[in-house]
Amino acid sequence: MNIVYHESTRIFHLYNDQISYLMMILQNGHLGQLYFGKRIQDKENFSYFLETCERPMTSYIYENDRTFSLEHIRQEYPVFGTTDYRQPAVEICQENGSRISEFQYQSHKIAKGKPVLPGLPATYTEAEEEALTLTVLLEDAVTKVQVELLYTLFAKGGIIARSVRLCNRGKQSVRLGRAVSLCLDLPDRDYVWQQLSGCWARECHIRTRNLEAGITAIGSMRGNSSHEHNPFLVLKRPNADERQGEVFGFSLIYSGNFRLQAEVDAHDTLRILAGIDPETFEWKLESGESFQTPEAVIVYTDRGLNHMSQTFHKLYQKRLARGYWRDRVRPILNNNWEATYFDFTEDRLVKIASKAKECGVELFVLDDGWFGARSSERAGLGDWKANRDRLPNGIRGLAQRMEENGLKFGLWFEPEMTNKDSDLYRSHPDWILSTPKRRQSHGRYQYVLDFSRKEVVDAIYEQMAAILKASKISYIKWDMNRSITECYSPAWPADRQGEIYHRYILGVYDLYDRLTREFPQVLFESCSSGGGRFDPGMLYYAPQGWVSDDSDAIERLKIQYGTSMCYPVSSMGTHVSVTPNHQVFRNTPLHTRANVAYFGTFGYELDLNKLTEEENEEVKEQIAFMKKYREVLQFGTFYRLKSPFEGNETAWMVVSEDQKTALVGWYRVLNCVNGRYTRVRLEGLNPSYCYRNVYSGTCHFGDELMYAGLITSDETAGQVPSGVEPYTDFESRIYVLEVAES
Ligand code: DGJ
Repeated sequence: MNIVYHESTRIFHLYNDQISYLMMILQNGHLGQLYFGKRIQDKENFSYFLETCERPMTSYIYENDRTFSLEHIRQEYPVFGTTDYRQPAVEICQENGSRISEFQYQSHKIAKGKPVLPGLPATYTEAEEEALTLTVLLEDAVTKVQVELLYTLFAKGGIIARSVRLCNRGKQSVRLGRAVSLCLDLPDRDYVWQQLSGCWARECHIRTRNLEAGITAIGSMRGNSSHEHNPFLVLKRPNADERQGEVFGFSLIYSGNFRLQAEVDAHDTLRILAGIDPETFEWKLESGESFQTPEAVIVYTDRGLNHMSQTFHKLYQKRLARGYWRDRVRPILNNNWEATYFDFTEDRLVKIASKAKECGVELFVLDDGWFGARSSERAGLGDWKANRDRLPNGIRGLAQRMEENGLKFGLWFEPEMTNKDSDLYRSHPDWILSTPKRRQSHGRYQYVLDFSRKEVVDAIYEQMAAILKASKISYIKWDMNRSITECYSPAWPADRQGEIYHRYILGVYDLYDRLTREFPQVLFESCSSGGGRFDPGMLYYAPQGWVSDDSDAIERLKIQYGTSMCYPVSSMGTHVSVTPNHQVFRNTPLHTRANVAYFGTFGYELDLNKLTEEENEEVKEQIAFMKKYREVLQFGTFYRLKSPFEGNETAWMVVSEDQKTALVGWYRVLNCVNGRYTRVRLEGLNPSYCYRNVYSGTCHFGDELMYAGLITSDETAGQVPSGVEPYTDFESRIYVLEVAES
């Protein structure tokens, strides 16, 4: 890994064994982009990568020169309106009404490691040798606004982390109309765009489109990163697939409004912008003030989508997620939400928990409904004190009963919300986000607390910390069940209202930061009606998140498969729930529900007392299986093998670091009669290791399994031999492969 500055050509070369990132200080002082992709040898001069050709209808910077136009030059942090007509990275609105600025090179520094981004989640290093950071300082001569572009090159993996700091060194105040985290100009547009999109209960479906002239974009203006679009984007060469080919992955470490876009210009060059959504953002910078953008991460590989995902998984698992739980297998939990909804008493909970304990569950989670006047969605949010009618011994007493039972205890909160029917709202009606003289729209009868105000965050912190201090709580599920409307904070002046969405998220991060620091051993799971805020920003504070409110195993195939494009298995909250399923009313076999949930944190979302004895025995076996293999399942290398978006079968697998254990998950949606003889080609095994297939009892070398494939056909083809349980729809299997000890 190295970052070189070639003085004579004014070229920066950031490279490690996989990638090269080349930039050049242009003749007008702006920073130009020369190349980003597979590693190339370092040398003094790459300036020929710059396009300087004369074209009609182009505007030029220099009087006697018809070659230098920003319209055709690839740049690092472009501005609009001074020969570049594409969407800009930054817009500075000045007191005289001008929006023109020009950021010119001043200096740069190269340092070991990676700086923290104050108040924001970001990737980090644990040792200085893990990364190098280049900071390039640019300044606009008229406004004296400075831009610091930060590039962190990690030693391992094709990863560049980028963010931007803007500082007003001028005398007049300015307003940022936009300030994205990353601009990447690429020389051609021969990529396929893939996004993770959906809606409530249908998150992270992989959607694919070709790039065309103009703008292709996804984003959120809801206040949360959203169910609709995850802040993640793939650009892959048309011939790239899971196993091979050039792929770029872009991920924004942010939980609020965002925009990721690709603009193809008339000459087929491509501009990628990633950052805070510019529509819902404006930020005033008084003289001396500065603004830090969120971080964006780019991964490049020429080894296909699986390798891109594995690079993100490792980075996000080890250098974004933090704390006590980062490297630990996750407790198997039983959550009462789908078991009881709001209908529970302390005794009923203890009964559910006791059965769970008997089956091997380690943690009982009490979901929504335990506090204030919360007997339905209409009341109680904001009053984080136990409802004594339901829980006569309070949270402390219940937690104690769980502990006595040998179970850890976890609790649900929705810290950012209040109902009008709550003591909190009655005492502080001005604490919600709402625009004066306008309607106050609700979502699920609840209102969003104004987390742009410190006193509001403080008050919620006090309530939560009091409970955590008083009771033995090992886990918190932090939910967020509505998007923001009428976004306005009476606590801020008119010219700062454009800041509220971002200030809100900073408040959320602040509360997370304080709680995770003060209670470092508590496991946090983020949630937003499932995956409405399943993003890298959350992962920094909460190492796992509830992927979706859809707990049906078949629906989960697509959701978890899509989520795995960027996020590691250890981050995905996955539970076995009842049948008929509560979202799609489908009946799936118990083993299939577990076979899907194993590829995640694993737990149960039901009352085990309601299962038959036979089913409970099966649950016990599932839990024992998960305990045996969760280290590999949660921290092994994950491969997607067959896509649920492309056919009736899905397959994925994990391989342990020493390649001695692998688990293959194979799933078939509909049974088929007299079908073909099916096989799945595996990945990541050691070709010369001999693996015992625990399911079939047969032994195979890694090369056979990878190049010829694992046979997944049923023993039956429409006929059921006697003594064999007939296969049906929604069939699945886990193939455990263990290196046979000689
Ligand atoms: C939405 C979550 O996703 C569910 O799991 C559950 O916690 C409910 N909220 C409770 O209101």
